[in-house]
Amino acid sequence: MKKLWGGRFQKTPEQWVDEFGASIHFDQELVEEDITGSLAHVNMLGKCGIITEEEAEQISNGLTTLLEKAKKNELTFSVNYEDIHLNIEKMLIDEIGPVGGKLHTGRSRNDQVATDMHLYLRKHVAMVIELIEGLQKSLVEKAENHVETILPGYTHLQRAQPISFAHHLMAYFWMLDRDKQRFTESFKRINISPLGSAALAGTTFPIDRAYTAKKLDFDGIYENSLDGVSDRDFIIEFFSNSSLLMMHLSRLCEEIILWCSQEFQFIELDDTYATGSSIMPQKKNPDMAELIRGKTGRVYGNLMSLLTILKGLPLAYNKDLQEDKEGMFDTVKTIEGSLQIFIGMIDTLKVNKEKMEKATKEDFSNATELADYLSTKGMPFREAHEVVGTLVYECIQSGIYLKDLPFENYKKSSDLFEEDLYEIINPYEAVRKRMSAGGTGFDMVRIAIEKAKTTFNES
Ligand code: ARG
Repeated sequence: MKKLWGGRFQKTPEQWVDEFGASIHFDQELVEEDITGSLAHVNMLGKCGIITEEEAEQISNGLTTLLEKAKKNELTFSVNYEDIHLNIEKMLIDEIGPVGGKLHTGRSRNDQVATDMHLYLRKHVAMVIELIEGLQKSLVEKAENHVETILPGYTHLQRAQPISFAHHLMAYFWMLDRDKQRFTESFKRINISPLGSAALAGTTFPIDRAYTAKKLDFDGIYENSLDGVSDRDFIIEFFSNSSLLMMHLSRLCEEIILWCSQEFQFIELDDTYATGSSIMPQKKNPDMAELIRGKTGRVYGNLMSLLTILKGLPLAYNKDLQEDKEGMFDTVKTIEGSLQIFIGMIDTLKVNKEKMEKATKEDFSNATELADYLSTKGMPFREAHEVVGTLVYECIQSGIYLKDLPFENYKKSSDLFEEDLYEIINPYEAVRKRMSAGGTGFDMVRIAIEKAKTTFNES
């Protein structure tokens, strides 16, 4: 089959070679962006007198017909035309005749494909930002219902100090807030137009790059044509932002998985977000959380892959760059899907308040309270730490907790102890009193939730 670029060739590649080189099986995802970009380009060609206004209109009409068909999924792509750009050009020529061949004046597939990807990512980054905010809202709502639900806070996965469950959830809110900021900030580097860079050097046609950029709602144009066609930083940045986002989601997944284990029983997932086992009838597995944790790996992989593809590339376009697309589609699909699932999983998650609270009573996570108590009474903190550490050891030896240790034992280790110590080591009190800025005290958490809510609608 004759290629659209076939003039200087004596023979056509064998079918299997064609198939290896083709990208149409994945870049058809860009069909709408490709036609949209072409519409702006042809409009500019007409306006600048590079083709006649009638020709521009004919081509525009042809493209619009194709766009409508694309939206209805009525276009059939062929591997014989390699990629989305040549497929559309061929369909256009079939639709309106040889005048369709004028569309590609003053343009190359190199600036065309880059334009398509800028348009595609711009759309999806906006969706991702919206989904992140959706998840933040779910977290805030859950947090509001659990300000006074207490559970052990952990360091080294050892019980450390009791905290408010809302405080724990809100930690993820702020991670997501940084993710949202990063995606929002990247927008200005995504929203610039490479169109008109042509193959690499610009063009002798009197094109108007600012005009096409404006038509496509870009904020500006690439200053350098070589950079315009060979830059993939904006995709790498998207992968990097996505990797951080997935890392955050994955950490919460890990906690969800732990929390719904028999050992913790802190939460129960809604049936929708869990699955059973084909052999063990009792099982309710947190599959969705595990899957999101697992999918984090492919998002990191896409980042590594594109960084590696780019590192040795001389300017300007090289076919290696065709390898940028599958990772981009995959990352978009993965993070959008993960965020959607997460929103539902958080909204429907049942919190086992009693189990959480019980856990704070059957441990030594109130030991810091006692050390603080002694140091408030004048004992140097280091000394207080030692005294309480010894008391903890004593309790462990007798299989009891600090709350069960008789008062005379306390008195024996320090004269500073008074009967009010039992109130001090009540975990609920311990949480309530942590009113330092950003701390877990209930009123501080309420303030933090209100502050968090002010970040909505800002972007
Ligand atoms: N399918 C190609 C890609 O995805 C489009 C650009 C091809 N340009 C070229 N000169 N071969 O990168």
